[in-house]
Amino acid sequence: MKAAVLAEDAERFEIRELQLDRPGPHEVLVRLVASGVCHSDLHVMEGTLPVPLPAVLGHEGAGIVEAVGEGVTRVQVGDHVVLSWVPSCGHCYYCGIGRPDMCDEAFSIQLQGSLPGGGMRLHDHGREVYHFLGTSCFAERTVVAEQAAIPIRRDVPLDRAALVGCAVTTGYGAVVRTANVPQGASAAVVGLGGVGLSVVQTLRLAGAAQIIAIDRVPEKLDLARSLGATDVVDASGTDDIVTPVLDLTQGRGSDYAFEVVGRPSTIEAAYGMTRKAGMTVVVGIAAPHEHISLNAFAIPSASRILTGSWYGQARTEEDIPAILDLYMAGRLDLDAMITRRYELEEINEAFDALRRGELARGVVTFPQEGARSDA
Ligand code: APR
Ligand code: ZN
Ligand code: ZN
Repeated sequence: MKAAVLAEDAERFEIRELQLDRPGPHEVLVRLVASGVCHSDLHVMEGTLPVPLPAVLGHEGAGIVEAVGEGVTRVQVGDHVVLSWVPSCGHCYYCGIGRPDMCDEAFSIQLQGSLPGGGMRLHDHGREVYHFLGTSCFAERTVVAEQAAIPIRRDVPLDRAALVGCAVTTGYGAVVRTANVPQGASAAVVGLGGVGLSVVQTLRLAGAAQIIAIDRVPEKLDLARSLGATDVVDASGTDDIVTPVLDLTQGRGSDYAFEVVGRPSTIEAAYGMTRKAGMTVVVGIAAPHEHISLNAFAIPSASRILTGSWYGQARTEEDIPAILDLYMAGRLDLDAMITRRYELEEINEAFDALRRGELARGVVTFPQEGARSDA
């Protein structure tokens, strides 16, 4: 099967013919229909997300179950599934306290580049190839743990469903689960890629009264407006994005700020644009060696809350179907989020466009025998 492989120190993907093992116990073989192109894959290419290579990247996929291993109970052959990149184990401390997003086992397989059962199912003519976030969906097929395959309703086009594998669930959960934004609140969103635009849309759904969208690519501001932003800040010509937000909020700052870029400077700015006792949610992933600087006196005297959100603090089995219901009910617009579709062979072009900030989302689609790729 064809897959896009990222080798160590490589700047581009190489399309290679790989061998894929049959699914082992509690594993599932999925034929991919679509895989979104997310900045976290780019973080790997830029060395800011340290995972073992060579690997098949891609962690925002949807497809159809083609085979199941021994003991699989959650899905059946033929089921449509969205892949979850936090295949939580259900029995560790964090799963036990209702925080599957922090699952110890999911973290350790992410660092090791394996599947939860250990080892790799991907091979390049005898050489093992690592899995990325337990999903590896820039490939025609993938083997994942059964808890990573979330069954979904069959009437959702799978290219739209793919976005819910990462961007939409991350943005939705940051607003609904992490921040629990109340109706009437004001919120600023820094960074309007697939994840940030999902934050904007969910704020609209939550009934936020003021949604301030911030990006340095002006076209993103227009799209954010059409998806629910009430105000925009063009960050293309300035590093100061705090003053414009203060100006838009009676000098007080916004109730909430969502950082969806992953840079220390924008995290500091997001914190600085919230009001006293406001909340900043960091969604963007900065490199492990980076730090931010905060005024120590302001921590008690302004009492702002600074927190993070990993995969939107999702409970994937509940949240992914719920998000797709919102889409099918016309309340969440996933169609407008797809800027362009690519074939697997064009994946490097998709990443060039992502680097240039041109994409809300780019999606790799896999031609299906006898079927439309958007069906
Ligand atoms: N100020 C404002 N906007 C910025 C800045 C900046 N300094 N730097 C980048 N941006 C904008 C880009 O123009 C782009 O529109 O941030 C957006 C990022 O979008 P994508 O590259 O599409 O990233 P996305 O996939 O949405 O992920 C965003 O969330 O999950 C994490 O790892 C992911 O850190 C990444 C972040
Ligand atoms: Zn992602
Ligand atoms: Zn766990």
